[in-house]
Amino acid sequence: MAMLLLTSAFACLSGIAVSSTIELPECEPPDFPQWGGYGPRQDFYVAGDVIHYYCDTDTYIGGNFYRRCEDTGDWIGDTPVCDQPSRFSVVNQTTTADPDDENDANKAVDALRGTCTSTQEGPGNYWMGILETPGLLFRVMIFLPKVNVAYEVRMIKQNGDEYSCGSKVGFVDHLNWEFHNCPEPNNTDVIGVKIISLNSTPLQLCEVVANTLTFPTCVDPHVRIENGRLQLNRKSASLVCDAGFTRSPANRLECIRTGVWNRKSLYCIERQWEVGSNDP
Ligand SMILES: *[C@@H]1O[C@H](CO)[C@@H](O)[C@H](O)[C@H]1NC(C)=O
Ligand SMILES: *[C@@H]1O[C@H](CO)[C@@H](O)[C@H](O)[C@H]1NC(C)=O
Repeated sequence: MAMLLLTSAFACLSGIAVSSTIELPECEPPDFPQWGGYGPRQDFYVAGDVIHYYCDTDTYIGGNFYRRCEDTGDWIGDTPVCDQPSRFSVVNQTTTADPDDENDANKAVDALRGTCTSTQEGPGNYWMGILETPGLLFRVMIFLPKVNVAYEVRMIKQNGDEYSCGSKVGFVDHLNWEFHNCPEPNNTDVIGVKIISLNSTPLQLCEVVANTLTFPTCVDPHVRIENGRLQLNRKSASLVCDAGFTRSPANRLECIRTGVWNRKSLYCIERQWEVGSNDP
């Protein structure tokens, strides 16, 4: 591992100035989440440097946001992953409007926060979506207009049972996501999400995002690769090599059982001068 030399000077009580040098361990640029990234981007980091991770819009970060370069030359903790919204196969709602109309239930899943649906007025009216792939529902995010709201989020199980993921009653005073975490242990084998109005005003929803886990699922495999790093999600890890380097024939790890990656030898090979290449 490369070392950076830093020189510092400090004075002793006796008044004699001593100059000393310490070796500062370096960390390579870190692994990073698919559908996200990190900053600041540098060619190398030294012990004590801190980076932060982010996810693309509408994906959400699971895990630690910050990591620090430790004096072992490793980044502390795990690389976080970004969760993409789970897809709904069908959505509907109780409404008086025609489906093609402004009140189309699909407006809550069109990835446009500026377009909203509205149920009929009266408690008990609802919006619901059936998930394309059933799974463990861990979070429902709802984007609401600035109005008074009263609703409950429910998860629908394979057998038709419904369990609460919480509710919100009150005025929405800023445009932002409302988070509802679905409690264990009843959040497994969830097939859909239902959002039920609890008061007489129509329930308006601008965007509904469900985050589910389907198994198997894995976390950061902590593989160290010279001149390369991994791009991770919960199911796979792809090798990305630095400029001038080529990926080994095996270039991807798969999560084969929960918590278990298939181990393959991943490496980055320096690109050789190619005879007959058109490149200058
Ligand atoms: C919405 O779909 C579900 C499941 O297919 C169905 O049981 C329910 O009656 C539908 N609701 C409306 C308002 O169409
Ligand atoms: C989970 O389901 C069981 C069985 O229906 C129920 O008794 C229990 O209250 C539920 N737990 C939560 C947190 O909803």
